[in-house]
Amino acid sequence: MITGQGIDRVDGALKVTGRAPFAAEFAPPGLVHAVLVTSSVPSGRIVRMDVAAATALPGVIAVLTPMNAPRLPQKGQAGVNPAAGRVLSLLQDDIVSYNNQPIAVAVADTLERAAQAARLVRVTYAAADAKLDFAVAKATAKPPARANREPADLQRGDLAASMSSAATTVGAVYTTPIGHHNPMEPHATVADWSGDHLTLHDATQNVGGERTAIAHVFGLAPENVTVINPFVGGGFGCKGSTWSHVALAALAAKAVGRPVKLVLERPQMFGMVGNRPRTEQTLGLGAARDGMLVAVGHQTVSETSMLEDWPETSSLAARHLYSTPSNLSTHRLAKLHIATPTFTRAPGEASGNFALECAMDELAYKLRIDPLALRLRNYAEQDESKRKPYSSKSLRECYRVGAERFGWAARAAMPGTMRDGRSRIGYGMATATYPANRSAAEALVRMLPDGSVVVRSATHDLGTGTYTVMSQVAADAIGVPVSKVRFELGDSRFPKAPGAGGSQSAASVSPAVHAAGLAMRQKLIELAIADPRSFAHRSDAAQITVIDGWLRSTNALSLVPGRTVADAASPGEPIAALIGRNGGVVLETTAESKPGVEREQYSMHSFGAVFAEVRVDADLGTVRVPRITGVYGVGTVLNAKLARSQMLGGVVWGVGMALLEESMRDERNGRIVNANLAEYHVPVNADIGAIDVSFVPESDAFVNPLGVKGLGEIGITGVTAAIANAVFHATGKRVRDLPITLDKLL
Ligand code: MOS
Repeated sequence: MITGQGIDRVDGALKVTGRAPFAAEFAPPGLVHAVLVTSSVPSGRIVRMDVAAATALPGVIAVLTPMNAPRLPQKGQAGVNPAAGRVLSLLQDDIVSYNNQPIAVAVADTLERAAQAARLVRVTYAAADAKLDFAVAKATAKPPARANREPADLQRGDLAASMSSAATTVGAVYTTPIGHHNPMEPHATVADWSGDHLTLHDATQNVGGERTAIAHVFGLAPENVTVINPFVGGGFGCKGSTWSHVALAALAAKAVGRPVKLVLERPQMFGMVGNRPRTEQTLGLGAARDGMLVAVGHQTVSETSMLEDWPETSSLAARHLYSTPSNLSTHRLAKLHIATPTFTRAPGEASGNFALECAMDELAYKLRIDPLALRLRNYAEQDESKRKPYSSKSLRECYRVGAERFGWAARAAMPGTMRDGRSRIGYGMATATYPANRSAAEALVRMLPDGSVVVRSATHDLGTGTYTVMSQVAADAIGVPVSKVRFELGDSRFPKAPGAGGSQSAASVSPAVHAAGLAMRQKLIELAIADPRSFAHRSDAAQITVIDGWLRSTNALSLVPGRTVADAASPGEPIAALIGRNGGVVLETTAESKPGVEREQYSMHSFGAVFAEVRVDADLGTVRVPRITGVYGVGTVLNAKLARSQMLGGVVWGVGMALLEESMRDERNGRIVNANLAEYHVPVNADIGAIDVSFVPESDAFVNPLGVKGLGEIGITGVTAAIANAVFHATGKRVRDLPITLDKLL
C-alpha cells in the first residue's frame, strides 16, 4: 500500500520551480487589468462619483461605477439563496454598508494605470449613521436561523438549577478578536468571456460552488461558466465563498470586451472577503467536589454585517465535549456596519475551544485537580447532546500519549512556581476537536493505452496535498505505481466535488477516487479474462489482480512457495500489453461516493490533546512557546508526511491566534487599521519552537469507506487554550482576551 506512506508531494517539483500556475498567472490574449475602488465610509449612499480624471489617463479603458455599470438580474443577488451565496456588492445600487466595500472598478491596459485610475476616482458620500460599537450592538443581538446545520440554541437539563446546586462553579467572559485569513496568495480572478461562456481562473476553494454562484449572478446556465484553479496559495476559509470581486471581474470583462485580471491589493483582503468575527463568550461550568461536571453553559455573541447573518459557531463543541447532565449553548449575532464575516481556520471550534478549554482549566485550579485528570473524569463516552455514539474516539489515548511525550508529570501543581532565570515557565493543556465532515463527491479514472492513468475530480489542493493523497489512493485502488497516476483537480468541468472547507476534502473525495479506481481494476481484469491471448483468459476473476501496473495471477497453484503475486515469475502481463492487444483504447470508469445513514447514527469528530510550554519574561511580559505537543486521532492518515505538515501548520495558526493575530477596527469609521502584513502579525519561524505532532492509530468504520476523518482544521484547536493555560500556570494571571500580548501580563 502506498496510501498512508509519507511520500513527497507529487506537485513539489512544479511548486519549487515556479511552474505551478496560480490564478493571477493565467494571461489570455488581450488581457487587461482591473483595480477596485473601495468605500472609505462604513454606511451611507454614494451621491456622486467623479471619474473624469481617471478616465482621462492614458491606457484607461473603463471606470465602472454604480451609475454606469451594466445591470444584472435581481441586482446581482440571484446567487444568494440557491448557492452558498453571499450578499455581493456589484455596483447595482449606491448603498454603502461597510468600509472597504467595492464601489467602482478601474480597467486599464496595465496594472499601474488601472491602480492610478482607481486612486483618481473622487467619491462624494451622503454618510449615514453607522453602528460600529460591539458593546452597544450586543444588547440587541439576535439568534441566527441556524448555527451551521445545527440549531442556534440547544438546552438539555436545567442549567440554572445545576449551577446553583454545584459545589464549585466558574463563570467568565472570554473574547476573541477579529482575525483575517491572510493567505500568501491574495484573492485573484482572471475573467474571460467567449460569447456567452465565461471562464474564470480564480483563487477559490470551491470551483463547483463558484460556477453555480456566478451563473446565478449573470443569469447563465451553469454549463456556461467554467471555473479553473489548479493551485491555491492558501485559503483558510476566505476563498470558500464567491465574493464580490469575482463577479466584478467578470462584469468588467463583459463591459470592455476583453479578458480582465483583478487581484485584490493586500489592504482589500481586510474587507470584502470575510474574516473571523469578534466573539464574546460567556462560560459557566458547575462541578461536584470530585470534579464531575453538572453544568456546562456556553453562550456566544459574535458580530456580523448588515448584509448577512453569519454566525461564528463557537458554542457547538460545548454540546458534546464533556459529559454533563445539563448543558446550554447559544449563539447571538450583533449586527454592525462591517463586512460579512466567514469561515476562518476551524470556524467555531477555534474560537469556542479557547473559551471552553480555558474555563475547564479555571475549574481545575479551583478544584485543585490536575487539568488533565479533570478532563478524564468528564470524558464523554458518547455525544450526549445528539444521544449518539461517536463513530470513533481515541481522545483518551491522545491524552495518555500526549502527556507522556510532553512530560506532563513534571508539571508543578502550583502556578508561578516553575522558573528558569528571568523566565517563568508554565505548562498548559487543552483538548482539540473538529467535526469529521463529508459530502458527496465523484471521480473519474481514465486508463491510457500506455498504462498511465489520469484521475479527475473537481476538488482542490490548497497547498495541503490533495494531488498527492488522491494519487496514492488511486494507485492502490487500480494497482499501478503512484508515478503512473496523474491526478487533476481544480476545474468545474471535472466530476463534482465539494468545496475545500470544513476539513472535508480528503474524507469526501478519497472514497470516490477509491471506488472509481476499483472499478478500473475490475474492468482490466474482465478485459483480460475475455482476451484469448491473455494469460488470464477464462480465469476466475478472483484469481486475477492488478499490481504495480501488471495483471497477475493470484492462483496459489501457479505460485512457487515464497514468491509473491508481484514476483516476475508469477504469470502476468503489463496493463499496456493488454490494452494494446485490445485496440489501444482509453478505458474509463467513474464513481460517486456519498454519506449514508451512518451520518444519522453516529456523531463524527476528530479529537486530540495539546500540551504547551511557555516561558514568560518576568519583567517584560513577553511570551515564548518553546514547545508544543499535539496528539490526534483523525482516522486513517493518507500520507504520514503531509498529515504531519498540515498539523504543524495548524499548530502555528494556534500560536498566531494565541499571541499575535488581531485585526483592529477603527470604531469611528469601521476600517481595519492594520490592514497589511507588517502590522497584522502572524508567526514567523522565530516565533515557533519545537512542535511534536503525532497520531494515534484509529480506525473508523463509519466516517467514510477509507476511515478518513480529515485533519485540515483540528490543528489550530486546542493550541490557543493550551498556551493561555500555560501562561496562567507560569504567571498566575488569567488572560481571557486574545491575543495574549505583553500589556495584558504586566
Ligand atoms: Mo475552512 S475555514 O472551512 O476553509
